[in-house]
Amino acid sequence: MVPVEHKLFPDGESYVRFDGSVEGETVAIVQSTYPPQDKHLIELCLLADAAKDLGAERVVAVVPYMAYARQDKRFLSGEAISINTVLKLLEVSGVDKLITVDIHNEEALKRTRMETVNLTAVPLLARYLAEEKGLSGAFALAPDRGALKRAEEASTILGGGFGWLHKERSRITGEVRVEEKALDVSGRTVIIFDDMISTGGTIVAATELLKKQGASRVYAACTHPLLVKGALKRILESGCDGVIGTDSIPSPVSVVHIAPLLARELRNEL
Ligand code: R5P
Repeated sequence: MVPVEHKLFPDGESYVRFDGSVEGETVAIVQSTYPPQDKHLIELCLLADAAKDLGAERVVAVVPYMAYARQDKRFLSGEAISINTVLKLLEVSGVDKLITVDIHNEEALKRTRMETVNLTAVPLLARYLAEEKGLSGAFALAPDRGALKRAEEASTILGGGFGWLHKERSRITGEVRVEEKALDVSGRTVIIFDDMISTGGTIVAATELLKKQGASRVYAACTHPLLVKGALKRILESGCDGVIGTDSIPSPVSVVHIAPLLARELRNEL
């Protein structure tokens, strides 16, 4: 392990320094790009470029939370397709392989020449809910079609079936609307599975609908608990009985540890 010294110059620019040699090595740089995203991203680019410049043979970027992944297409004319730009930045900085976890849309990874691996923390989340929280048999719900694969995968461990909702988000205000849909959840425990919880708007809308339809308990599980702008308080106030996430982002709900998942993948580099 080589420690990295990092600091900000008085004007806000990032500084990084490897405190040890990386010459001739395969270097795995572990850097999750949660807020402040831009600072974490530029640190990652500086480290990858410096590693190559200092003689590293190969650079593997381990980025548990991949920032900018939601802006994966041009929703409104004139918009930047941000994830494409970020992937290009990593590539030109010398990253040979990118390992990430539950990226918003896996398709985006096909647009880069870097080797890419998208791991999933859904089985870890589902096992935690079943074993630590006693929620075996709960219904796994995707708040939108994009999260369907995750809910389906969770249900193979929870064993209580799965379903999905149809969600719409205003591209202008960001407001979330979940379409009314009859679900067979009366008297049941439901766990909403999503890749990330940001403002909590999605979980609040889904919880309100589920409670209206008679769900006895509602939990929310996500890989990336961004939880911005008082999201956790809003979610709990909406009637959600609990929120769990992984430590891809530090937060009060980051109870599921993904280090073993990353370490298993990194063994392929040995
Ligand atoms: C979007 O499609 C994502 O999968 C999440 O559902 C979304 O980013 C959650 O954001 P928020 O918590 O702000 O509703």
